[in-house]
Amino acid sequence: MTLVLGIETSCDETGAAVVENGRRILSNVVASQIDLHKQYGGVFPEIASRQHILTIVPVIQQAMRDAGVDWRDLDAIAVTYGPGLAGSLLVGVNVAKALAFAHDIPLVGVNHIEAHVYANWLVPTRPAPTDLGSAPPQPAEPPAPPPEPQFPLLALIVSGGHTELLLMTDHGQFKRLGATIDDAAGEAFDKVARLLGLGFPGGPAIQQAASRGSAEAFQFPRAWLKGTYDFSFSGLKTAVLHTVRKYEAKIGAPAADRKSKLVSSQTPPLMHTIPVPHIAASFQAAVVDVLVEKTRQAAEATKARQVLLAGGVAANALLRKEMTARLAPVPVLVPPPALCTDNAAPIASLGYFRFTRGERSGHDLDVNPNLRLGVAPAP
Ligand code: KG4
Ligand code: ZN
Repeated sequence: MTLVLGIETSCDETGAAVVENGRRILSNVVASQIDLHKQYGGVFPEIASRQHILTIVPVIQQAMRDAGVDWRDLDAIAVTYGPGLAGSLLVGVNVAKALAFAHDIPLVGVNHIEAHVYANWLVPTRPAPTDLGSAPPQPAEPPAPPPEPQFPLLALIVSGGHTELLLMTDHGQFKRLGATIDDAAGEAFDKVARLLGLGFPGGPAIQQAASRGSAEAFQFPRAWLKGTYDFSFSGLKTAVLHTVRKYEAKIGAPAADRKSKLVSSQTPPLMHTIPVPHIAASFQAAVVDVLVEKTRQAAEATKARQVLLAGGVAANALLRKEMTARLAPVPVLVPPPALCTDNAAPIASLGYFRFTRGERSGHDLDVNPNLRLGVAPAP
């Protein structure tokens, strides 16, 4: 049995998790900073790093307690060293290095983007033991985990900072088939949500607004970038901007200021209100359409055995539904939403696979805010 403590501080979530054999989550603690950053409409880097400093130690202590493990039980400490916000990454990396040094535990630096894919390897742990007498009998051994994802597989990583389509032939072996040439999918969700006055983070807000609108209300453009597996979302974002401006010109006020009074979900959209639900639904449909169709084409061309979704946008219900329906019969694996957004369990999982390959990071491990996939292993 190999136990890895994962530590994640690349953006605005402080995370620590203990994972057994790269798959079984023994604990997973996340301290979200969303409420702190909401007022700025996005992540404020200086505030993020200061908050990580305040929460990292209690979060790690909680993860160790929840897992019921001691420092002596750990085989490795895995930490995100990039990409991400420099000040935020520094907190996690320095704490991980200090703990690894103090307790003489091997250190493994991991790439945050690659780690997102490993949410698909994770399975929840057995239920926590409860009081004797009242508790239902616990199985002597936890149930066998479901089968591992099968290579070769396609991984679509869609987060606030990245949109990447990878062909993975084994752990650590991947080819980048395509990526966004401008905005990341999550970034597009966040920017459009801001335009519509829906707040931060944008993805969940758009999804919620879209549930009251019609995806056919507006025909927003899809950038197919034919002959490539690349993505582009800036044209779509601009099309939404023009639509909103058109309505604002009629009404005489920015959507963001008048949201509560002027939102309408009537069909067809009325010109004296901003049809936020319709715009959100049509925008969401355009993003999902391109993500699903490009992944489908790549799956066909590469004969991938499975498709894995990863990253915060993989929490999107329409994306999950459409990807599963349109990729059939190729199986689509989708982690539970809480494992799609930033947390430390996938960090520990990827750390395990690197650790068992003999990969180690030195105590000179440094952060790399612009770390790219597959360019260089962690030092
Ligand atoms: O992976 P993540 O937690 O952080 C990064 O590494 O970027 O992804 C955050 C992104 C944000 O852009 C957020 O708006 C988006 O994921 N997101 C969603 C949903 N939940 C989170 N996008 C669409 N639909 C959702 N339900
Ligand atoms: Zn992320």
